[in-house]
Amino acid sequence: MPTSTKDIIQELKRVKLEAQKDLSRAEDQASLQRLKGKYLGRQGILTELLRAMGTFPPSERPIIGRTINLLKEEITQEINTRWETLKRRRHEKELYAEKLDLTLPGRRPLLGHTHPLTQVLEEIVDIFTGLGFQIADGPEVELDYYNFEALNIPKDHPARDMQDTFYISDDMVLRTHTSPVQIRTMEKQRPPLRIIAPGKAYRCDADINHSPMFHQVEGLMVDRDVTFADLKGTIAIFIQQMFSKDTRLRFRPSFFPFTEPSAEVDIQCVICKGIGCRVCSQTGWLEILGSGMVDPAVYSFVNYDPEEFTGFAFGLGIERIAMLKYGIDDIRLFFENDLRFLSQF
Ligand code: DAH
Repeated sequence: MPTSTKDIIQELKRVKLEAQKDLSRAEDQASLQRLKGKYLGRQGILTELLRAMGTFPPSERPIIGRTINLLKEEITQEINTRWETLKRRRHEKELYAEKLDLTLPGRRPLLGHTHPLTQVLEEIVDIFTGLGFQIADGPEVELDYYNFEALNIPKDHPARDMQDTFYISDDMVLRTHTSPVQIRTMEKQRPPLRIIAPGKAYRCDADINHSPMFHQVEGLMVDRDVTFADLKGTIAIFIQQMFSKDTRLRFRPSFFPFTEPSAEVDIQCVICKGIGCRVCSQTGWLEILGSGMVDPAVYSFVNYDPEEFTGFAFGLGIERIAMLKYGIDDIRLFFENDLRFLSQF
């Protein structure tokens, strides 16, 4: 304990410095509480000094008392300030911990979209409806009569071998093409007639280019004076809109029982632009659809007079067009429903 007034004043200065140091180091409210005890508590440094004051001459007590009380006030003040600072810091920390960063980009929900085959189908439909064609449809489980016979493919005719057929019964099949819709439409309607019939078809065939279920679009136009030139013009417009304006195409003589003459249409290979590559088997050309002038034999099944009406028909595979358009080399990708594939379209 200091014994002179000078000593005690000296001691108070030291206590003041010590208290300031202590307070600046207090990092939480509990340690502040402890410091409050250390300096101001009943056993605290300042309280002890006040007690010691009794041993000093009465004339010096007021100055010592005032100095101690002043320091007491100062320390109290500093403890309060520190208390507020710590309180504010803790609050800021809490706010920070639960902050929401409003500038972060939102999390988008995963959106689906139409299947690539549907997209291609819609494009095909748009092009032909733009040319005045109307949509027609027919059943997928079809009578042998519509699928074959009325299309001029008699029972036991070798042409049936062209299509590996799923038979439901002797006279019922899963339609092997969309061509039966031609017959069903002509049965119900008289010319002029301009339809496309998109839909599913089935064949017992499966590899990288064939799927047992696939999609076709059938086209049929019948009127007075419809010629092969109308067929060529219609197909050319379609190909140019579907691929590009400068896509070259050619009509290659072919055979279908329901058209005469018949032609298959090739387009210049979209991969190599006609130079020759793996996709076009070095020919520079890709087969894209079958077509021809409706065979008069077909008209006899629907009671149209072949002297009065002529028409053209065509049939194309949607998968094939999609594969060529997007450079897809395996038809099965369309049906595996792998999102890594589908989300690219
Ligand atoms: N139905 C034929 C097939 O699936 C494609 C076809 C060729 C359709 C010529 C037609 C056509 O309408 O005129 O192989």
